[in-house]
Amino acid sequence: MIIQVFLRSKKMKIGVVGTGYVGLVSGTCFSEFGFDVVCMDKNPRRIEDLNQGIIPIYEPGLDSLVLDNHKKNRLHFSTDIKDAVVERDIVMIAVGTPTSDNDGAADLTYVFEAAKDIAKHLTPYTVVVTKSTVPLGTSHKIKEIIEKERPDLKAGIDFDVASNPEFLREGSAISDFMRPDRVVIGVDNERSEKILRQLYRPLYLIETPIVVTDIKTSELSKYASNGFLAVKIGFINQMADICEQAGANVQDVAKAMGLDGRIGKKFLHAGPGYGGSCFPKDTLALAKTAKDLGTPSTIIESVITSNDHRKSAMADRIITHCPNAKKIAILGITFKPNTDDLRDAPSLVIVPKLLQHGVDVHIYDPLYYKGCERTLPFQDSKVSFYQNAYDAIHGCDGVAILTEWNEFRSLDLPKVQELLKQKFFFDFRNIYKPDEMGEFYYYSIGRSFSKSHNI
Ligand SMILES: NC(=O)c1ccc[n+]([C@@H]2O[C@H](COP(=O)([O-])OP(=O)(O)OC[C@H]3O[C@@H](n4cnc5c(N)ncnc54)[C@H](O)[C@@H]3O)[C@@H](O)[C@H]2O)c1
Repeated sequence: MIIQVFLRSKKMKIGVVGTGYVGLVSGTCFSEFGFDVVCMDKNPRRIEDLNQGIIPIYEPGLDSLVLDNHKKNRLHFSTDIKDAVVERDIVMIAVGTPTSDNDGAADLTYVFEAAKDIAKHLTPYTVVVTKSTVPLGTSHKIKEIIEKERPDLKAGIDFDVASNPEFLREGSAISDFMRPDRVVIGVDNERSEKILRQLYRPLYLIETPIVVTDIKTSELSKYASNGFLAVKIGFINQMADICEQAGANVQDVAKAMGLDGRIGKKFLHAGPGYGGSCFPKDTLALAKTAKDLGTPSTIIESVITSNDHRKSAMADRIITHCPNAKKIAILGITFKPNTDDLRDAPSLVIVPKLLQHGVDVHIYDPLYYKGCERTLPFQDSKVSFYQNAYDAIHGCDGVAILTEWNEFRSLDLPKVQELLKQKFFFDFRNIYKPDEMGEFYYYSIGRSFSKSHNI
């Protein structure tokens, strides 16, 4: 096969720079495909833990896959950039691209630092791939950085830069990676395209569509996807507000909409606003890019504003309906279930706002509870963490479900009722049916409130 001639050996060698959610999951999954992978991170604690079999993030199924591939000597961890670069066919940049402090743009400091570090040790021929979510033109800048750092290397001959954005979702990252809806590859020549196609060859069996584009288009496709999903969520949340005023039911509206093949039913669940490590920062970065290009995206700008407003409106909702509340129990603080990620979670807005109103907050989350090993957020004397939902609820005026962890789906409702002082139940994920909640003052999203508490 022609492709083989481009590789250093039969077994493709991959380096991953940045071993966070994306770097660790993709590096591990590539090693599961049979490739030789070095995951590198500049955080020594993280690498030390991984080398001892301690997985630094919570992601279902990840621990056994890491341990197994590490044991089989296909997956290595290092703090030394050389290990991830020298004699590697592909080096992936998977470092963070947070929002910069001033203008909403993606902060590319880590990406450019990684590019410089990679350049120092690059041994021809290698494809340097941006897996991080990066704005239009970033891969081109990486190429310039490498050429500046290493005048002895020529792009297109000694190395190439390509874009391969990652679409996995936290909480289902392994299956998303192993069975993706599509793989997007941005390249500017056939040689790098062939190597990246070879990388994803294990997915040919399940007929995963591979979309090959130029580099800028690939970079933008990630932002366009996240931007669109954020709009879908923002849209259904506004429909929920309309439903509440009109006495309609947003879940039925979503069902009616979602059965239309042009719309699709996913991401039409009304809730307390989107959070997480991607949508908030990626929508801000997309809006900034669009503005810089002189084509402002008013749709994205508006969804950012409405989502920010929504998170704080959820706290207002608790305070308005339960004005004398002294203690509120919060169930779930992560931005979604099956992850320990708190980045931009609605809880980070709702809990402080409740505290500002003098409300004590009792928290239980299956990954953040009293006595757990993780560092607990909200260092405030009025916040207490508990070991289970019922201990958190005990003696509170109301309870609010912020994250739809499975264990909150079948709470012992008579017990909850008994433990609450006032019977306020805020179901911000629409887990329960309003007609089953007659004994509570029950408020969900976009559905009629319990009879005695219609607004
Ligand atoms: N988290 C997700 O669900 C997800 C999904 C798709 C895409 N992405 C994108 O992937 C990128 C990474 O996201 P993440 O959530 O994995 O980030 P993360 O913060 O979990 O991990 C980034 C890691 O990079 C390391 N790092 C930073 N600079 C480094 C350097 N110069 N050398 C070596 N290591 C370095 C950090 O120590 C950290 O461990 C972002 O651009 C993000 O938008 C994330």
